[in-house]
Amino acid sequence: MKTQHDQHARLDVHLTEGDADRTLRADVRAGLTADPKQLPPKWFYDARGSELFERITELPEYYPTRTEAALLARSVDEIAAASGADTLVELGSGSSSKTRLLLDAFGRAGTLRRYVPQDVSESALRLAMGALAAEYPDLALHGVVGDFTTHLDRLPRGDHRMVAFLGGTIGNLLPAERRAFLTQLRSVLQPGEHLLLGTGLVVDPEVLVPAYDDAAGVTAEFNRNVLHVLNRELGADFDVDAFDHRAVWDTEHEWIEMRLVAQRAMTVRVLDLTVEFAAGEQMCTEVSAKFRREGIGDMLAETGFEVTRTWADPDERFALTLAAAR
Ligand code: SAH
Ligand code: AVI
Repeated sequence: MKTQHDQHARLDVHLTEGDADRTLRADVRAGLTADPKQLPPKWFYDARGSELFERITELPEYYPTRTEAALLARSVDEIAAASGADTLVELGSGSSSKTRLLLDAFGRAGTLRRYVPQDVSESALRLAMGALAAEYPDLALHGVVGDFTTHLDRLPRGDHRMVAFLGGTIGNLLPAERRAFLTQLRSVLQPGEHLLLGTGLVVDPEVLVPAYDDAAGVTAEFNRNVLHVLNRELGADFDVDAFDHRAVWDTEHEWIEMRLVAQRAMTVRVLDLTVEFAAGEQMCTEVSAKFRREGIGDMLAETGFEVTRTWADPDERFALTLAAAR
């Protein structure tokens, strides 16, 4: 691990370029030789992908971010009081935009000493930490570049932590990955420490699908960005513009599936593979699962958490759940 310090900020890098390169190669080999083909969503987030995600959060169709921000605005003081945390850890923190609502509430409560943003994207983390250091000069910042599916045991310990996992990012994990993630998270927490979980709820597909297929085409660019990442990082030769974006609501699994659709038959060279795409072939690049309230409670109870309280918006599009490690 590499660590950098200055007066108030520290950055631990658990995911070196070499680690990321090995994992990317393994994921691409497994995903592009599978039938149907697939790629894991964490590779969207190079600097451009993180910027595109920020643009998505401002789109009129993409309601999750603003709904969660409004929910946080009305619940943060209760969350801060109920958790009493001295350390706020945030997984997949990205730009940490909504986190400011939590930092301000903890500031009013007077308990918080340290904020630990964690993200796989070093560029997004550095950008967020630079802005936060200027805005919160009295707060200790301890950034962690790492993967929340493999590096939870590397999170710094605190007397009393609250781990925020916002944005509905848990929905980007498949059900087995989700259970493994929550089980591992529970195992690194002490009884009484808290999890604050943001989850998208099941809503009308007429609202849901446009959120993942916006009129301005930003989500399409975000989706295709994974192919730019493969071209740059692995010397692949994807003709990126020859793939269309599709968002499909899967009623059985209750998730949105983002796919890239080959416009024509193509042969792509990547690593030592020659990968054939048929015209119209679809490759899954992300699932974004939506939840029901009972399902959230069951999933948390099964993995060792006890729900303290749940908040939802009046249209029941998004939920925030505060849970304690049992
Ligand atoms: N929490 C923010 C950002 C959500 S975007 C919000 O609510 O708006 C998802 C974030 O998770 C991105 O910043 C991405 O880089 C990060 N991410 C995706 N997969 C990850 C993984 N496996 N480990 C750590 N971070 C990951
Ligand atoms: C980060 N994650 C919760 C987003 C989502 O809604 O699943 C990623 C995203 N994909 C398309 N638009 C946004």
